[in-house]
Amino acid sequence: MSAQAAPLVRSFDEWRVAARGFIARRVAPETIEWLSSAGAGDLLSAAPAPAEATTTTEDHGGQAATRLPRQLMALLEAAACHNADDRWAFLYKVVWRWQRGEHDVVSPADADGARLHGMVKAVRKEEHDMHAYLRFRERKEADGAPRFVAWFEPTHHVLPQVAVHFARRMGNVTWMIATPQAAVLWDGEALHEAPSLLRSAADIEDAGEALWLTYYRSIFNPARLNADLLRSHIPSRFWKNLPEGAIVPAMISAAANGERRTGQAETVGRRGGSAIAVAAADAQPQRGHPTTLDQCRRCELWKSATQAVPGAGPQRARIMLVGEQPGDQEDLEGLPFVGPAGAVLDKAMAEAGMDRGSIYLTNAVKHFKWELRGKRRLHKTPAQKEISACHLWLEEELARVRPDVVVALGGTALKSVLQDGSATMAPVMDAPFRHGGRWLVAVYHPSYVLRAPDEASRRAAYQVIVDGLRQALRLLDS
Ligand code: URA
Repeated sequence: MSAQAAPLVRSFDEWRVAARGFIARRVAPETIEWLSSAGAGDLLSAAPAPAEATTTTEDHGGQAATRLPRQLMALLEAAACHNADDRWAFLYKVVWRWQRGEHDVVSPADADGARLHGMVKAVRKEEHDMHAYLRFRERKEADGAPRFVAWFEPTHHVLPQVAVHFARRMGNVTWMIATPQAAVLWDGEALHEAPSLLRSAADIEDAGEALWLTYYRSIFNPARLNADLLRSHIPSRFWKNLPEGAIVPAMISAAANGERRTGQAETVGRRGGSAIAVAAADAQPQRGHPTTLDQCRRCELWKSATQAVPGAGPQRARIMLVGEQPGDQEDLEGLPFVGPAGAVLDKAMAEAGMDRGSIYLTNAVKHFKWELRGKRRLHKTPAQKEISACHLWLEEELARVRPDVVVALGGTALKSVLQDGSATMAPVMDAPFRHGGRWLVAVYHPSYVLRAPDEASRRAAYQVIVDGLRQALRLLDS
């Protein structure tokens, strides 16, 4: 049987359309030759769409196509980001087998199922690594180039979803993420794909005017052009001194001559339809993003602390406990919960049947805030601006550790996890609730037990912590 050529596939959606047609015509996997391209031109069309139920019931040449469960679609969509050359052929084989009733094809015990899950795992890990290790460098020059630029060499095709992640976090500051294959620009409002003109991180520093001009051109959207606004921001007499000044007039005229309409159609066609809401506070953390926690100068607390105290525990833990800030002993040892509050917590964990070794322990604020009383450094509650400044690090830990349940130990932790400076414990201590795609349990801070005025209230506060930890363990099974 001679091989049938599939149309050129540049994205998951294109593969889906092609696969649907082949399935409807009952074309066997071994007879199809899949051609793929990973060019920049298809990049954002491959950005993740909200998981949708697969309703491939359209007619293809008089035959109904197959219907796939949502979970399988999600696996296929994730695996499509894998860099395997034969990924489209492999995904088709999975669908082919599924629709023939071979549902084992999604089981890790099946050879194809194992490969599918392996691909998904590799893609998820790459997404996670890119979230965690991508570093934006701030560029100071006001030359029309994005303010932050990052270079990353992902193994798999995860740039689109990672770009969406950063677009949600960074508010309206402009940035670009460049990879060897492609670049994505965020102009503060929308994502744009752009050619990959950088070759390494070093190019970010060396990039000359011509390069930024090229990027400026590539993000220029005639549909959104407001020439008057542009002139009011940058009076045209200054344009000649700006690198992009030379091309702006030409682009305005091109826009007036029809590109505005074309641009509009293109942009509308590309949009998924959902608006990305960005809180002003979220725009702050990335400014002056320190590379490591011990270099963090986002608030003043580093000045009087011995060191920053990072979270501790397995890289992937199902439960994360968030405290307030390191105490005197934690500040000296560089580890969370090793002082008196840690001893209370250890006892409560043991009583609840929770193994400290399997839990990720961290704090909302990573530097010890204190005041001197006599010779003693006494704990001082962090201010909201310090909690907000430090939230970036908690966010990174949440993205890296991906816990299913977060236990907020006290009000500071709750404020940070909820990113709500007005959050209070009383309304949320009764029952766990969902927040940010995970369970959140709120209990007293262990030092609240230590400060309780009498034995009865000490015992009551302690019991709340034990019950909350038990609740967290139960939620893992839910
Ligand atoms: N209190 C906290 O909140 N965290 C610690 O690490 C120690 C005491």
